[in-house]
Amino acid sequence: MELSWFKKGTIYQIYPRSFNDSNNDGIGDLRGIIEKLDYLQGLHVDILWLSPIFCSPNDDNGYDISDYCAIMPEFGTMEDFDELLQKTHDRGMRLILDLVANHCSDEHLWFKEAKKSKDNSFRNYFHWRKPAADGGPPNNWKSFFGGSAWEYDSTSGEYYLHLFTKKQPDLNWENPKVREEIYDAMRFWLDKGVDGFRMDVIPLISKRDGYPDAPDVGFRKIIEDVYANGPRLHEYLREMNEKVVSHYDAFSLAEGVGINHNNAGLYINCDRKELNMLYHFDVLECTIVNGKFEEDSPFDLVNLKSIFKRWRDAVHEKGWLANAMGNHDFARMISRFGDDKQYWSASAKMLLIMQSTQNGTLNLYQGDEIGMTNIVLESVGEIKDVQSLNFYNENLETKRYPKELALEMINKEGRDNARTPVQWNDEINGGFSIANPWLKVNPNYLDINVKKQDKDPDSILNFYRGLLKIRKEHDVFVYGDFEEIEFNNPNMYIYNKMLGNDKITVILNFGSSVIYYKSSGEIDKSTILVNNYETLSVENDTMRLQPYQGVVLKMN
Ligand code: GLC
Ligand code: CA
Repeated sequence: MELSWFKKGTIYQIYPRSFNDSNNDGIGDLRGIIEKLDYLQGLHVDILWLSPIFCSPNDDNGYDISDYCAIMPEFGTMEDFDELLQKTHDRGMRLILDLVANHCSDEHLWFKEAKKSKDNSFRNYFHWRKPAADGGPPNNWKSFFGGSAWEYDSTSGEYYLHLFTKKQPDLNWENPKVREEIYDAMRFWLDKGVDGFRMDVIPLISKRDGYPDAPDVGFRKIIEDVYANGPRLHEYLREMNEKVVSHYDAFSLAEGVGINHNNAGLYINCDRKELNMLYHFDVLECTIVNGKFEEDSPFDLVNLKSIFKRWRDAVHEKGWLANAMGNHDFARMISRFGDDKQYWSASAKMLLIMQSTQNGTLNLYQGDEIGMTNIVLESVGEIKDVQSLNFYNENLETKRYPKELALEMINKEGRDNARTPVQWNDEINGGFSIANPWLKVNPNYLDINVKKQDKDPDSILNFYRGLLKIRKEHDVFVYGDFEEIEFNNPNMYIYNKMLGNDKITVILNFGSSVIYYKSSGEIDKSTILVNNYETLSVENDTMRLQPYQGVVLKMN
């Protein structure tokens, strides 16, 4: 396995709109990020991933791009960006951007032109189809955000495809001009010195010939079999790598929607020269059966272990993964996988021990380093995310769930949970802005904030700082071979990792009860490298673990 800066580095995802507002208009911005670079450096993260910062009407908060080579005015100017990039590099960190290549905004010049007439030279930048015989959409494809994936255009009497909102028309990658446009945009940023891209829904760019109807199966399966992994996908990815990424010291991180452990190698095996790494959805969706706001299943530790295991086995030696347990599309990590109440601090720290000792690049999301939790939105008026709003409104029509239940479901799973402003201190709006923020601040900012945790040696924040530093100093955390112990234990996650002469043992109590772990030999307390409690009680070969206690022992 080839070692590399992007494998060992820790990625920290910034959702710029919610990170820090420097000019007090209620919206986070690039200068806001510049103000916090010292904070990020002190956290020992290495690679900053910015969610989209390009011009956008913000139907989907920047994931609908109207100009790939310009900065969204709300976020600042190109000068601000250049300064941010320079200052990130000055601190020894890297910066990657979010490339949305599957679709653009309907307010992009390309689409505005394409809509003008069937013979417009941009028409073929998008997917247009005639209506079905009954005048309805050309097939039964559903948008990820509800409703048909086709929108009727009365000027031409045709439908265009949008797998996301109708303001996000899908680009037609069959058209070589489209591919060149995207490659040019990538070169524009790479030439400035950016260190790579996170590639938004990249498995969706090649559409199936003839746009066949989707079978009547769960939405996850439809994504895998009908929307993602299209016939020309790998040809495009190879071309993109060959023409663009491989010419720079940069990497590509794919959002692995629709990728499973069986076909992952096709994307990331190094000899295929397509993408450098991906994060899959199996962990992020381990409690989600068919899709958001559908039935879900309770968290199951053995299931989580098997997910990690099957992916490890699948990519073994040849491919590389990024490990994420939260991002801007899911509810807060601690509210899903830990305990955001009584054992808030212990469980947040334990989750980091687990994440930082899994194989792959550690991929963190803003605010998790202080244990930010889900928010309760009191009424539909407080919802900002288009996915949640569409679900809510569709449900008003179908009356599938009572309104109160729909809001409850949104509060449990909705994306706004992860998008509330970062809580910097206990002043107005958590120090994010003195203006009214674009999305409500979680009222728990009085308790949960960076300033308070900065001073507290036992805080989640200081635990992150300490552990991320230790991870840097120990290759075994990142590259070690994995050996499971008591795989079927439903309450504890226990494993060894080995690299050369280095060996660590990780022991995690995944619940709120005290639990005993009996080791195969005497436990030597001097081997404790990481512990999320002040003490660890040990008697001979038995360890008594507190609720959500996690330890890493360094065995030599
Ligand atoms: C990705 C993004 C998500 C966005 C969607 C459409 O899944 O992470 O936020 O809504 O793509 O671009
Ligand atoms: Ca601002």
